[in-house]
Amino acid sequence: MVSVRDVFSRPLNPLNVARMDKLTTHQAQDDARNEDILIWVNGTLKPKAQAMVSVYDSGFMLGDGIWEGLRLYDGRWSFLDLHLDRLFEAALAIDLNIGMDRAALRRAIADTQQANGMVSDAHCRLMVTRGLKSRPFQHPALSVSGPTVVILMEHSRPSIRRPIRLATVPHQRGLPMTQDPKLNSHSKLNCILACIAAEKAGADEALMLDVHGFVNTTNACNFFIVRRGEVWTSTGDYCMNGITRGKVIEICRKAGIPVYERNFSLVDTYGADEAFLTGTFGAQTPVGDIDGRKIGTGQMGPVTERILQLYKAMVTA
Ligand SMILES: Cc1ncc(COP(=O)(O)O)c(C=O)c1O
Repeated sequence: MVSVRDVFSRPLNPLNVARMDKLTTHQAQDDARNEDILIWVNGTLKPKAQAMVSVYDSGFMLGDGIWEGLRLYDGRWSFLDLHLDRLFEAALAIDLNIGMDRAALRRAIADTQQANGMVSDAHCRLMVTRGLKSRPFQHPALSVSGPTVVILMEHSRPSIRRPIRLATVPHQRGLPMTQDPKLNSHSKLNCILACIAAEKAGADEALMLDVHGFVNTTNACNFFIVRRGEVWTSTGDYCMNGITRGKVIEICRKAGIPVYERNFSLVDTYGADEAFLTGTFGAQTPVGDIDGRKIGTGQMGPVTERILQLYKAMVTA
């Protein structure tokens, strides 16, 4: 808390102070070293308090940018190639020239890691926006500076204390012709609105349905259930093509655990034996309660535990 005040030299928002006690799927242990991190901003490593972008930045002004979340385990950024694939695909989709190739991005990530002395248990948010605008309006032609690239790394050990609670919300991650749910866009407002609705309902995170009412995803993670020994997740048509999601499917296939990408409803979900979330930060996070219904025993189930161990082995191999 102090660090936020230090960086921005202003009092904290009382509403958000109350929220700081809430459980999120991105809960991490406090780590004092994060006050002294260096952040890569357009080629220069800057102390946290000086790592700033302009109010004219397309990302700040309009949410016009893309990002990736990466995790360092035992000296290696997990699935870095897949993250770079997704980043470059998103850049192509939004017609943004990152101005760096994969090798340059890899070097910048390695330099930032080295400058911060990180060897494991670090999280990186790699952000690319359309850069500075000449005037405060939407047209991409007004973004005249070239992209803004930021590599922000923190020491980070997830510390989620119990299976989380989900609440179903009216917000959807919808059809590709509105805002494609496969874009890791800077603007997360749709997901933030979903998260706020879940929080108001007393839950930790939102369970979002697809346009047909089938269970889809949460506001920040992919969603799985386990029924009678089978692992089910959504078809993938309306959610983020999560890298952890893909790896969990791969792990299940290799381990002979039946896994299906399919439509399923809240009836199937409330009646599941287990449920869990996937994401780069938390790997696999058990879900204990959805809309006030206990899922299975309300604790992490044996299939989730097995997948979690197999995933751990995969990322530290
Ligand atoms: C909406 C949403 N779903 C799922 C994920 C998880 O994706 P990954 O496993 O690639 O971290 C993310 C993370 O970026 C996300 O924003």
